[in-house]
Amino acid sequence: MTKGRIFSGMQPSGRFHLGNYMGALENWVRLQNDYECFFSIVDLHALTSSYADTSKLQDNIREMAIDWLSAGLDPEKNVIFCQSHVKEHAELALLLGMMTPLGWLERVPTYKDKLQDLEGSGKDLHTYGFLGYPVLMAADIMLYKATCVPVGQDQSAHLELTREIVRRFNYIYNKEIFPEPQAVYSKAKVLPGIDGRKMSKSYGNTIPFGASPEEMWNAIRMMTTDPNRIRKTDKGNPEVCIVDKFQKVFNEAEYENIVAQCRAGEIGCVQCKKCLNAKMNEMLKEIHERRMELSEKPEYIREVLAYGAERAQKEAVKNMAEIKAAMNL
Ligand code: AMP
Ligand code: TRP
Repeated sequence: MTKGRIFSGMQPSGRFHLGNYMGALENWVRLQNDYECFFSIVDLHALTSSYADTSKLQDNIREMAIDWLSAGLDPEKNVIFCQSHVKEHAELALLLGMMTPLGWLERVPTYKDKLQDLEGSGKDLHTYGFLGYPVLMAADIMLYKATCVPVGQDQSAHLELTREIVRRFNYIYNKEIFPEPQAVYSKAKVLPGIDGRKMSKSYGNTIPFGASPEEMWNAIRMMTTDPNRIRKTDKGNPEVCIVDKFQKVFNEAEYENIVAQCRAGEIGCVQCKKCLNAKMNEMLKEIHERRMELSEKPEYIREVLAYGAERAQKEAVKNMAEIKAAMNL
């Protein structure tokens, strides 16, 4: 018996970073043992904002699959697939679009925020597809009748909208077809970037998940520490130090000790950074080895995604038949 059915997805929009890993993927790897899981590389969602340049799409999909597998997602235990390979996602999104009030979509806070963010980026997001982003996301979740959705806090408005669409569908067609999905938040690990703001591709402050030891050290070297600390013996203030935020996440065991040494002026910033560097490389070492191996096997990656799509589609076809029957289609 599992605790329920999970659906979650990520957009293949470039190199996966440590923030994505700590905030989402690490959680999925844990959940795979207790839930029946569907994990999808949502390439159609990537099109909602990057429809004009699709030249990197296939590379990004393959890289994302490699990231997931190397982090420990098991392609037998979970259904791992690419969204556009299962055409029922598009079909259900169309049907749900018929009954989703425009006002609900216009009120989603991420909609106006992102429109504003991308103002001047050269992307025109005044499109039907971009407004409909949350409808497509609702379709992803509902197509598998998922009960739990592991996501970051930033997705809560989208999930609330999914629940509203579920209630509306069940009410209009007078049938309890869909369960109301609940969010499963990871334990609030928002990872900062090397400049201290939230790690995000749009800030250019990321450490790639596949960073080599050289890249890792270069990133850690760039992190600013307490500016008032000139000599090693000066007493440090970890609250204003970026390295401190990383020690907290990646070096839990030694964290209290290092903070005490910093405050007492007993450990220098370079030594502290070296210690963090060693921990981070150690944690990522096995993942990197698997990543290297998988990078040499594009054929295997294709097979994993084809196998996942086949299993996802079986479930999707079954549920679509029930949905269409309820709608007299
Ligand atoms: P995004 O790259 O923004 O599409 O995010 C993909 C997933 O990674 C989402 O579940 C986010 O909540 C999570 N995520 C992105 N950046 C961070 C970060 N700096 N810290 C923690 N989680 C993050
Ligand atoms: N919107 C999610 C994000 O940007 C990605 C996503 C698409 C998703 N479909 C989903 C997440 C379904 C959970 C369930 O992170």
